[in-house]
Amino acid sequence: MDKKLIFSGIQPTGTFTLGNYIGAVRNWGPLQDEYNCIYCVVDLHAITVKQEPAKLRKNTLDAYALLMACGIDTEKSILFIQSHVKTHAELNWILGCSTQFGELSRMTQFKDKSKRHADDVNSGLFTYPVLMAADILAYNADLVPVGVDQKQHLELARNIAQRFNQRYGELFTVPEPYIAEIGAKVMSLQEPTKKMSKSDENPNACILILDDKDTIIRKFKRAVTDSEAEVCYREGKDGINNLMTIYSSVTGKSFDEITSEFAGKGYGDFKLAVGETVADHLAPIRNEFDRLIQDKAYLKKCYTEGAEKAQRYSQRIVSKAFHKVGFVDKA
Ligand code: TYM
Repeated sequence: MDKKLIFSGIQPTGTFTLGNYIGAVRNWGPLQDEYNCIYCVVDLHAITVKQEPAKLRKNTLDAYALLMACGIDTEKSILFIQSHVKTHAELNWILGCSTQFGELSRMTQFKDKSKRHADDVNSGLFTYPVLMAADILAYNADLVPVGVDQKQHLELARNIAQRFNQRYGELFTVPEPYIAEIGAKVMSLQEPTKKMSKSDENPNACILILDDKDTIIRKFKRAVTDSEAEVCYREGKDGINNLMTIYSSVTGKSFDEITSEFAGKGYGDFKLAVGETVADHLAPIRNEFDRLIQDKAYLKKCYTEGAEKAQRYSQRIVSKAFHKVGFVDKA
């Protein structure tokens, strides 16, 4: 039987957070051996909020190199930049015509972002999940590895695929979410009931994977916890639960093992251990990124080849969609 197809994407908004890494990117590398994988830096999505052009260009290249540094192998997977492959925007239009205003209005990320960017509630921000559906359906992906925050968008992509298939005849695979058991939602270090996010105003809330060791340790030392002293995973201990999740996903230790390891020790020791472990885990990624980002010619070769492969792959499916909706076939 053919290998299943994986598709996922990440926005180029500066370096990745530890949330992006643990919830998504870190799982992408190991999937390459078992599945056919297609990964993408989604610069079209990024411009749904205001971007400075020069910075977006730099962030996109950085994100591409960072994915490679995190273990995406361009020999095994297709790794490309979204705006280089025109089928995404083309399919986006077709799928948008099968998506209802009401469905898009219910998207919690749209509601959150339109509050945060009240001066720029543009139509791209509103139709963002349609483009995400196009990303996935243009390849007929089976599985989409994402963090929990993308689940609602993925459910919409499933509905859009099913609706198109019913209306025009079978074409799209209905994709399944692929969500890690541990770390699918890494929380803010300062407000552990909120998702860790780059857009947090407090820089101590969020670990960036290119942060240096001292910065990582300092941020963990300042992490908000509770007034108890026991390192254990329990409802209500949001800060400690989050640190345990991070520690567990980096070390592979279970929550029980972590509780035993820190029995009789204070939160200070635990936070330091988490900080040091995370910093040591990320150090090789930072080194590899520093090396790759110097080699612009090699990166260009990789993203050019990636785009060619992605274009070829998706063109077949998108051309079928054009035909099914009734467009005249091009010679
Ligand atoms: P983005 O760029 O916001 O995030 C990239 C991935 O990181 C996950 N993630 C988290 N996981 C755990 N804890 C967190 N605190 C955390 N923050 C982010 C996200 O769930 C995501 O998997 N719309 C998408 C990008 C996208 C996409 C796609 C994904 C565009 N097209 C097609 C899959 C398939 C986004 O903005 O992710």
